[in-house]
This record gives sequence, C-alpha cells and structure tokens, in this order.
Amino acid sequence: MPSLNDIRSTFLDYFAGKGHQVVESSPLVPRNDPTLMFVNSGMVQFKNLFTGIETRDYKRATTAQKCVRAGGKHNDLDNVGYTARHHTFFEMLGNFSFGDYFKDAAIPFAWEMVTREYGIDPSRLLATVFHTDEEAAAIWRKVGLPDNRIIRIATDDNFWMMGSTGPCGPCSEIFYDHGDHIPGGPPGSPDEDGDRFIEIWNLVFMQYEQFEDGTRRELSAQSIDTGMGLERIGALLQGKHDNYDTDLMRALIEAAAHATSTEPDGPGKVHHRVIADHLRSTSFLIADGVMPSNEGRGYVLRRIMRRAMRHAHLLGAQEPLMHRLVPELVRQMGQPYPELVRARPMIEETLRSEETRFRQTLERGLRLLDEELADLPDGVELPGTTAFKLYDTYGFPLDLTQDALRERGRGVDVNAFQQSMEEQKAKARAAWAGSGETADAGIWFDIADRHGSTEFLGYDTETAEGQILALVKDGAPADEATAGEGVLIVVNQTPFYAEAGGQVGDAGMLRTASGRAQITDTRKTAGVFIHYAEVVEGRVKTGEAAALEVDHARRSTIRANHSATHLLHEALRQALGPHVAQRGSLNAPDRLRFDFSHAAALSPDEVTQVEREVNAFIRQNAPVETRVMTPDDARALGAQALFGEKYGDEVRVVSMGEADTGKGPGGRTYSIELCGGTHVRRTGDIGVFVTLGDSASSAGVRRIEALTGAAAFEYLAGQGHHLAEVSAALKSQPDQVPARIRALLDERRALQNEVAQLRREAALGGPRQAEEAARQVNGISFVGQVLQGVSGKDLPALVDEHKARLGSGAVLLITDAGGKAAVAAGVTTDLTSRISAVDLVRAAVGELGGKGGGGRPDLAQGGGKDAANASAAIAAAERVLES
Ligand code: ALA
Repeated sequence: MPSLNDIRSTFLDYFAGKGHQVVESSPLVPRNDPTLMFVNSGMVQFKNLFTGIETRDYKRATTAQKCVRAGGKHNDLDNVGYTARHHTFFEMLGNFSFGDYFKDAAIPFAWEMVTREYGIDPSRLLATVFHTDEEAAAIWRKVGLPDNRIIRIATDDNFWMMGSTGPCGPCSEIFYDHGDHIPGGPPGSPDEDGDRFIEIWNLVFMQYEQFEDGTRRELSAQSIDTGMGLERIGALLQGKHDNYDTDLMRALIEAAAHATSTEPDGPGKVHHRVIADHLRSTSFLIADGVMPSNEGRGYVLRRIMRRAMRHAHLLGAQEPLMHRLVPELVRQMGQPYPELVRARPMIEETLRSEETRFRQTLERGLRLLDEELADLPDGVELPGTTAFKLYDTYGFPLDLTQDALRERGRGVDVNAFQQSMEEQKAKARAAWAGSGETADAGIWFDIADRHGSTEFLGYDTETAEGQILALVKDGAPADEATAGEGVLIVVNQTPFYAEAGGQVGDAGMLRTASGRAQITDTRKTAGVFIHYAEVVEGRVKTGEAAALEVDHARRSTIRANHSATHLLHEALRQALGPHVAQRGSLNAPDRLRFDFSHAAALSPDEVTQVEREVNAFIRQNAPVETRVMTPDDARALGAQALFGEKYGDEVRVVSMGEADTGKGPGGRTYSIELCGGTHVRRTGDIGVFVTLGDSASSAGVRRIEALTGAAAFEYLAGQGHHLAEVSAALKSQPDQVPARIRALLDERRALQNEVAQLRREAALGGPRQAEEAARQVNGISFVGQVLQGVSGKDLPALVDEHKARLGSGAVLLITDAGGKAAVAAGVTTDLTSRISAVDLVRAAVGELGGKGGGGRPDLAQGGGKDAANASAAIAAAERVLES
C-alpha cells in the first residue's frame, strides 16, 4: 500500500517526466497577494504567471502545495473533526501550464495519471464539465470516458475562482464512485452530497481575470491549473473512505491517543481528528512565521490552536498536549517539508506556551458556559453577552464557543456578540481620546475601526503586496494622490517597520499599476501603519494593489545597529554591573545611540572592554533567535525589559550569542531582550562595532553613540588616514611634505578648538564643576548655566544635584531645545525664606519670551520660545538675587 509520501512523489515524478519543473511549495502566507489570508490552493504562487504580469524560465510546473483553509473564502474550520474530508491544512498536488498546453493535453495527462500511474479502475471514474464546455466533454470521450459518465454542470461548482478577484475559469472535476453500497448520487443530482461519489481532482481551464467590480477580462494566454487533495487520493489508494484513516493522519491520531492514554477510535474519536488536523495547520503556520495574536492571521492561528486545545482538554489531558505531538509530525512530514525540522523548537515552544496560558482560563470558561446553559431553556441560543464574556475574559474565540455548543445542539446569538464587541471598541476609543493624544490622530482610529490593524510582514520579508485601504492628504481622507503630492498611505499588510522601541521607521518604494510613491518614513497609531510618502510618478489610489519594497541597504544597517545595541547593552552590564538598565535608544541607518543608567563617565579602559566584548560576539557569528512568549516566561528566562513599559499578552524575545561559562560547550545565552524590532540573522552580519564615545545624557544617565559595519570601518579608516598620508607623501613626493604638514597642523588646531568647546559644554552639562562655576551674588552662591543637548524634563534632577554640591545657594539652568527654552531654578532650603525659585524662574521666563512659570520656593520650572536670550535670562535672575 503506497504511503502518502509515495503518492506525492509519484505525482511529482510523473509530471517532471512530462517536462514540468518541480517547484517547491510556497509559504502559507502569500507574498504576492494582499487579498488572501492564506495560500488555499496550488495556483496562488503562480497567480501573476496566469495574468501575464510575470514570466519565468519554465512554462510547465508541478507542485505539492501546503494549503490552509480557515478564514476567508474557503473556510473549513467548523467542520473539521466531524466529517471524513474536511481539513484546515491539506496538501494540494497540481500541474500547471502557463500559456503552454490547454485542455487538450491537461485531460489526457490527468487520465493517464489516475488510471495508469495510480492504477485506478477507469470504470469507477466520472467527470463533470461546465455546461457550455463541449470541447472538454469531447476530449474526455476521446481519452475513453463514455458520454454517460460526463456530467454537464451549470453552477459555480464548475467555475473556479481563487477569491473575489484574480485568474479564474471553467473547470472539470474527476469523481470516483465508491459503489452502490454507499448512499449518495452523482454530481448534479439531488443526492450529490452523499458519500458515494467523491471528487478527487479539479482541472481548471484558466481563461479570465476577475476584478473587484465583478467584471472579467479574457486572459491573453490560456493556461491550466489543477488541484488534487493528497489526503483524498491517499484515502482512495489506501482503500479507505475517510481521509483520517490514511497512514499519515492515522500516525498523528495514534500519537495523540498514546499521549492521552485514550483509544483512537473510542468516544474521543472527534477530538483526535481535530487534534491531528489542527496540529498540522498550526505547526505549518508557525513554521511559516505566523505567531498567535489577537488580530488577522495570528488570530486565525490562535483560534485553531485553542480549538485543538479544548479538544485535548476534553480527552482529559492534564498537561499541555499539542507540543508533545510535534515530534511525530516532524517524523511524518519533515522530509518533504524541511521547514518543519528547522522550526521545530519554535513550534514546540509556541504551542506549549499558548496551551499553558489557555489552560489557566479554559476550565473556568467551560464552567461558566455550563452554568449559563443550565438555566437556558432548550433550543434557546446562548446570549451574545455570555459569548462575549467567554471571549473577553476567558480567551474563547467565538468559533470555539460555537464548537462547544455544537455537541449540545445549540447556537450563539452572533449579532448580540458582535454588538458587545463594538461597544468594547467604542470604549477603548473613548479612553484613548481622553489620553491626550492629538485630535487629528482620530482619523487613524477611524481607519483602525474600519479596516483593523495593519499586518506586519517585515520580520520575514522586505517585499510584499498590500492593498491600499486609505490615503490621507493634508489631514483628510483622499481617494488618490498624484505626482508631486505628499500623502500618508495605509495598506492591509506591509513589510515596512513602523518606528517603535528606538528603531526608526522603514523607507522604500510603493508601486501600483498607475504610479509610484517614495516612502520616507513609517509610523504607527492605533495599530495602523502609516507610510509617509511622496508620489513620484503617476498616481496612487485607494483600493489598488501595491507592491511594497523596503529600502534594503537602509534596513540592513538599521538591523545591524539594532542587534549591536543588544550586544552593547549586555557588554555594559558585564563591564559596569547589573545596575545598567536601558533608558532610551535610537537605531537609525547611520548610527546607534544607547542611553543607560550609570552615574559616572566610562574610563577609556571600560570603553575598550565594552568594544572588545561586542566585537568578540560579532565574530562568534551566533544565530539571532526570536521567540514569542508570555511576559512572565520571558522574565523567567532573564530577558531584559524596559522598566515600566506596558507589554501585551505576548512578547517577542530576541536572544543572541553564547557566553563562555568555562564549562565547555553550551554556555549561557549572552543577550536576551524583549524586543519588537528587526535584527540580523547572525551576529556576524553586524560586521564591526566602534563607539564614538560616552557622554552624559541627563543626571545619572550616560549615552553611548556607536557605529557598525561599513560606517564603523570608514570611521576607523579615517583615524589612521592622516598618518598614512604623511608617510606616503614622505616617500613619493618630498616637495609636498611641508604643505601637507601645514594643512594637517591647521586641521589639528581646528579639532583642538572643537574639543575644547565640547569639553566646555560637557562641563556645563555635568554637575561636577558646580563649585567652580558658582559665583557670589549678594552673598549667595549662584550657578546660572545654559545647557545644550539636555532635555527639559531632566532639568529638575540636575538642579537638585547642583543644590547638593553647593550646600547653600541658588541655581538657574536653561536648556536650548531646538530654539525653545526650558528653565528650572532651585534654592536650597536654608535660603527659601529669603528667595524663591519661583521668582527666579519668572524673571528668566520674562526674558525668554515666555509667560508664567511655577513650582515651589525650592524648585520651579518654566519655558519660553527665545532660547537665544538665555544670557539675558540669567542676568535677570541675578538681579532678583541682588534686590
Ligand atoms: N485551483 C483549483 C482548486 O483549488 C485547482 O480546486
């Protein structure tokens, strides 16, 4: 008896022998189609070949394609477990022609494949054709199928479409007759839904392209797309009637039965089938980069996972079960799908953490459900508010509640559920509106309400297609933007990273059929990614499909800088101590900046130690690993988190490097951080790391700026450059030496001046020289300073430090924040009966073009718009002291 693995190979080998290129299955998340949630058939990866947008160096292809049908046009989730042939995950075998052969060859290939290669008895076969397609019927007759087994069908059943748009065409389906001992009628008859006649293969004659508005155009070249479910043909060839009785599915069912000490065919039969199916879809989705979340694809994954987990619970599993079945799945399918082997730790961990968490609320949720049902008369639907409570408090997706009720023959009041959902959204929105964000951000909330959050694809890819959902011009929604115009663009999914966690937003290009827009920045509000763009050619319009491409070189350096920041963070902790905590960071294309808590300047030795260590981990070239888990699990791992930051239900944890523990191989992971950013694949991709020095950012906070990769190299090369130049000049052009030396001396003098200036500024920024800087005014020690590069909110802490050093005296600090001034004044308590900090601030603010200012007699603050008048402001404060 052939295994599913044999049946898959036989198919691919046959078509390879007929000049077809064997192409790998594409990932489940479509890269080339913004309208599809998951790849749901073999033709998706070839969509643009059918429409002619793309050409490749082959015109015939064959694949075994991973498919998920859960969510979207083709959704089978609700039926899985209860029927013989529904799956959320299945494999589709197919052969394709792109403008090469058409029906005249496709039908004979199919016939030969099933009757000769698979050896199916021809007398058991039937074919359907679209009612107007006499051409196809004639070809079927020619290969040997009698006319009474060719059935003309007038409905959509024989017209195949991938989704609401895209290539499509009439189709012809091959059916197998299991014999009259099984109830059911042939296709097109009233009893067609019976189990006697089973569709095994669909041949689509691609002829049209369907558009959003329902119109169709004829494709310039006729093509072929076929799809045969491996599980179905497998059941047939293995003499089974039920897909779940095939060798592969059976192995998974038995693994589940074994792990739960239950009978595979006992009362838990449905549960086993659900688990076996959902194990496949969830594992493959995770391997393709989908992570459980509360929206979009991640939510479909979560729904499938939780549905499986409830069935595991019903089997009486006391511990998380799903992750324990992954090894069997890898044994069964790891060979044709090596991504399963690669992603195995990630799959196991994601399943385990989701199940651990869900089990905490599952039981209480089920109890609540039981209580509600006890009071509910027969036949009455479960109230929507209860379903919503199960969703909101206990993490039950709606379809899980529906699945739980199905066994008891009850439904849910879905409308009332949706209404509760809307009310909650409205509340979230009201709370957000009161949080002091700018009013015009309301537009993004509207977009989020209407379209949901943007799906971010950029961890795995830098190019993807999205659909333009909204354009915003001058603060208002717009239908289109034309060349020369600035516009904010929202798409349903994007590879562009939106500024967050210190990492700057991506830049790049967006292309549509009618124009191009340069994207200069990406930010997000209310879950909506906003692409800041300028249309550079033609126009862009809402509703259009758009190809998005991140500026690769820029993203690469951002990535390197971000990963280097993680290494730097850990190196600082190693060099300076565990008190080092991140206070801020910037990961830009040209440099990185890291602010951290530490009281003193770093010594040259400390700087060297940190640089040496970061570079050692770069050379280690260790893989950078990303996992998703609960914040608690992350903390248990020792992940560095930003103190006080609010994290959601799940966090990304990025780890890299293996520290030598002195105990041989398998040391501890060097850096583990909670981080949503994008990173290099291996630490070696950072290249080289060099700091530009350390400075004070605010009281108790130091700042390191650094470079990586090519920028670091150029910087280092520049440092050695002058010496090399002089020595080269000495050798080859002795007469030019005096001029070069004079030029270098000039340069040196300029640099010395710059250093002196920087030193002065640094001294003003740091409190250490406070005593020297203090002058006596009317018998009071007074420090009056203008600071650069210090933020207004750090002034009070600096004032306090000055006060502490003075012992007795008054302080006035002004900082220039981009032309605007922030002021803080302090008076030591022994003097507050004579002078008030509030008076000092008010006097200063008057000179700075501001109004008011306030606080307490010992500490006050204010601001103004003319930072240029800072010296006059200090003089004004001195006059207050004098009077
Ligand atoms: N694309 C066709 C199907 O999925 C073959 O049935």
